[in-house]
Amino acid sequence: MIEEKKLFIQTLGCQMNTLDSEHMLSELEKYKNYTQTDKLEDADLILVNTCSVREKPVQKLFSELGQFNAKKKKGAKIGVCGCTASHLGNDIIKRAPYVDFVLGARNISKIKDVVDIKGSVEIDINYNDSTYEFAPNEKSIYKTQANISIGCDKKCSYCIVPSTRGEEISIPQELLISQIRKDVENGAIELMLLGQNVNAYGKRFSDKREKTSFTKLLQEISKIEGLERIRFTSPHPLHMDDEFIEEFAQNPKICKYIHMPLQSGSNEILKAMKRGYTKEWFLSRVEKLKKLVPELRISTDIIVAFPKESEADFLDTLAVVEEVKFDQIFNFIYSPRPNTKALELKEFEIPREIAVARLTRLIELHKLHQSELMQKNIGKEFEVLAENLSKNGEVFGYSDNNLQVFFKASEEALGKIQRVKISGASRTSLQAQKV
Ligand code: SAH
Ligand code: SF4
Ligand code: F3S
Repeated sequence: MIEEKKLFIQTLGCQMNTLDSEHMLSELEKYKNYTQTDKLEDADLILVNTCSVREKPVQKLFSELGQFNAKKKKGAKIGVCGCTASHLGNDIIKRAPYVDFVLGARNISKIKDVVDIKGSVEIDINYNDSTYEFAPNEKSIYKTQANISIGCDKKCSYCIVPSTRGEEISIPQELLISQIRKDVENGAIELMLLGQNVNAYGKRFSDKREKTSFTKLLQEISKIEGLERIRFTSPHPLHMDDEFIEEFAQNPKICKYIHMPLQSGSNEILKAMKRGYTKEWFLSRVEKLKKLVPELRISTDIIVAFPKESEADFLDTLAVVEEVKFDQIFNFIYSPRPNTKALELKEFEIPREIAVARLTRLIELHKLHQSELMQKNIGKEFEVLAENLSKNGEVFGYSDNNLQVFFKASEEALGKIQRVKISGASRTSLQAQKV
């Protein structure tokens, strides 16, 4: 019997990192007898699952590692995983010699091998773990997640992800279906499909097989009995063809919430970003979606102050925001990243004060839309999956279109989909009563 050990994981970055952390935890539980702790001081192993997408978190990493090293129990190990591990590799151990191992975002299936090898660095971005079956995740009961592809084949000029996660490989459909079936048998009713570019699914696999499409995958997955809700993120606006939009609209299992990363509303900037679509294409997709799905909610990502972004370019972005009225916007100030094409535009970078002022204007405009959109929900009815009992005895969950809803109910409601009527709204959540 191996002695029981404690694991502390800190996860930064996107949902793919969150899922990677869950996978590492399952592997370490299954093969190395670890259990998770939220107390750093108790841990025998400290894992930091990092994000590189913007510069700030990378700067913070080293000061944080220093603190972890000072607080850790004697003999505890520290591992750095994820996207920053991929692009800094051995430099992490050079700068912070107390780090025991470095494991890139594309290599997390090797966690049980590296954990006991001091100084190991596994960061091969061509490594293929796309068919790797991890220990089953039994953590969440009602919701499950699956990576449908690893890596990204796009070359958005600001983005470091293709160089941290490598080229795009889709996970074979039969593996996905069998994993999802198992999760549904264990009680999951909602599924989240993950990938950097989910609707490019099916173009390349690690073995020779016929090409397929995301739309076909959605059709196959929705045949799984007992699975009631399907969500996915992130789709790319370029690949939102009519076939995809029609499937999205008419398939009752697909939740009516979509993330449409705009990045910019200026055609010049979109071109410089190498996004592959125009503002007109983006708006045509929104128009078609809204027409077919009246209760649709849309979120987006926007980067302000990309090099060369003029006031007029920024106003184009605000005009698209005004036209679409996004339900949620994830805003970022452009951050120059290593291994990206946009570094060539260094001399055209926008001064920080202008960038901050643009970000503030965008946030203010969005807040107006958010309040307006949330108020419109009062009196409407939605189906909510009750997930948690909150402190004041209310149940909390998400509607099909991803509204956060609180309503009075007891513990028996948990894990079930309940029809509710909205009685009150704040800018970010709703109050409701069962109907
Ligand atoms: N694959 C996803 C995005 C992953 S990164 C997609 O294409 O939608 C998440 C978001 O971070 C991006 O959509 C973008 O808005 C932002 N981002 C990426 N690189 C950035 C950079 N260098 N500076 C600022 N924001 C960036
Ligand atoms: Fe980055 Fe673009 Fe790929 Fe998204 S689609 S991960 S923004 S390169
Ligand atoms: Fe960050 Fe890597 Fe995700 S850079 S956003 S953790 S793909």
